[in-house]
Order: sequence, then structure tokens, then C-alpha cells
Amino acid sequence: MHDFRLAEDRKDRLRSSVIAAMVKGRGGPPPEIRLWEEVDSTNVRLRELAETGLEPPVIAAAEHQTAGKGRRGRTWHSAHAGNLYLSLLTPLPSPVLMPWLPLLVGVAVAEVVEAAGGALWLKWPNDLLDTRERKVGGILVEASSTGRQRNGAVIGLGLNVNARVINPGGTEPGCLSEILGHQLDRNRLIGALFRTIQARMEAMQNQGPEGVHAAWLARGLWLGARVEVLLEAGCDAGVFEGLDAHGRIRVRTEEGEKRFAAGEISLRADAGGGT
Ligand code: BTN
Repeated sequence: MHDFRLAEDRKDRLRSSVIAAMVKGRGGPPPEIRLWEEVDSTNVRLRELAETGLEPPVIAAAEHQTAGKGRRGRTWHSAHAGNLYLSLLTPLPSPVLMPWLPLLVGVAVAEVVEAAGGALWLKWPNDLLDTRERKVGGILVEASSTGRQRNGAVIGLGLNVNARVINPGGTEPGCLSEILGHQLDRNRLIGALFRTIQARMEAMQNQGPEGVHAAWLARGLWLGARVEVLLEAGCDAGVFEGLDAHGRIRVRTEEGEKRFAAGEISLRADAGGGT
């Protein structure tokens, strides 16, 4: 059971000492921790640092981003509001597991929130929603080359923790403090997220993606419903039947089953279970 309640006497500031204490003793090398008051994008900055030699694992976070990146070229509004703008540099999983990484991170965030008494739904491929289907956070995973020419993954996580920040084009947002009924200590949250993501990654590397697959399906939004899939070019529609062995969505369309590796899903106006 996690308790991320922010103590009344504690200022809501990012602190490396608290994060370091949280991740101590988990096995493996201790993560380097980089915190910024203001940065353009924690993902961009971490990729630059990795290219100039910083080795994983690294935890990077900022109080505020001036050019936060969202998926599909969108901006991630990153107000100075007690929220999480977090990037983790980790070794790259084997290429066949890479498509599972955003799904794994979603599962890990949901598990941390559940352990604190809340719940999150996962919207394929990498949105985190509350049970009223309001977006609470998003995930942006990018590959990066590290100093020794090895490849790393930069896992970016934007999470409304203590305030509901609206992102452009987004619908009404939610936040963790509403879900859990209290303000959260972001440092302890970062520690728990790092530990859970690392543990899930180790398990996936050793045992394959089946555990993430099952855990994602247990929290997946709109399974069995009619959805629209927005693609780079055009869109398609059908019943969202699940994921395949590569983390792609399986959609039963009028032309038969199709699988999509990228895109965005939304519920069709005439949605309901079945065809
Ligand atoms: C999405 O579009 O839903 C994904 C948003 C990811 C935002 C996070 S905030 C921390 C990290 N740094 C960035 O510039 N983006 C990610």
C-alpha cells in the first residue's frame, strides 16, 4: 500500500534527497537524478544528456516546461502547478519488446495509483484516464543514443498530480489529487513510479510481454466497443477486440480484422458492445 499524502508541514517541491531515499536498495545501479525548476522539455534535455555520455538509469523532472512535447507533434502544457513532468532514461529493451514499452509504463502508473487506493483506465496507446474518462496523463517514449553508442529509451510521463491542467484539443482533464482525495507528495510518487517501471521492465525482459499484455487488458478502455481509429492518413472504424502479440490493437472492421501499431482511438457516437 502506498501513501503519497503530502504532509501539511512539507513544501510541495521536487527534492532529489527524497527521491534518492525512495529508490535506494532496489538492486542495480542507483539512478542519477536531475531536477530543473524550468526546462524546455525533460525528454529533449534527457536525450541531449544521453547523447553526451549520461548513462541510464536517470530520473529527470522539472517543476515547469516551456516546450513540453506531446504525441503527434502536440504541445504538452506544463504549468508550474504541482504536477509531474518526468523523464526516465533506461536501457532500451530488445527491439521486439519496444512497442510494449508505452503500454508497460501505463500499467505501472495504474498499479502505483491502485496501490494508493485509486484507479486509472488505460486508453491505447498511451493515455491515462480517470474512471470518468478524463485524461490524467500521457506517455511519450522516444529512443535515444547514449554515450557509449548503446541505445537507451527516454520514457516521458506527464501527469496531472495536484492540479487539472488542460492540454490543447483535450477534453476536460482529471488529476490524481481528485482521484485520491488529497494532495500528493510528488517525490515519493516519482520513487514509486521508477521502482514499478523498473520491476515491470525487468520482468518483461526476462519473461516476455505476456504479463504486461494481461495487465493492460485488465485496465483497457473501450474493449469490445465500437471505436474510430485516427491514422496519419484517414481513419478506420470497428470493434476494439484487444491487442496482438506486438502490442497493436486488433479492430474488427467491415473488411475483417485489422491491426494498428499507431494512431488514436475514440469512441464512436453509436458505440456499444458487440458489432
Ligand atoms: C501525450 O501526448 O499524451 C504525451 C505527453 C507526454 C508529456 C511528457 S511531460 C514529460 C516529458 N517531457 C516532454 O516534453 N513530454 C513528456
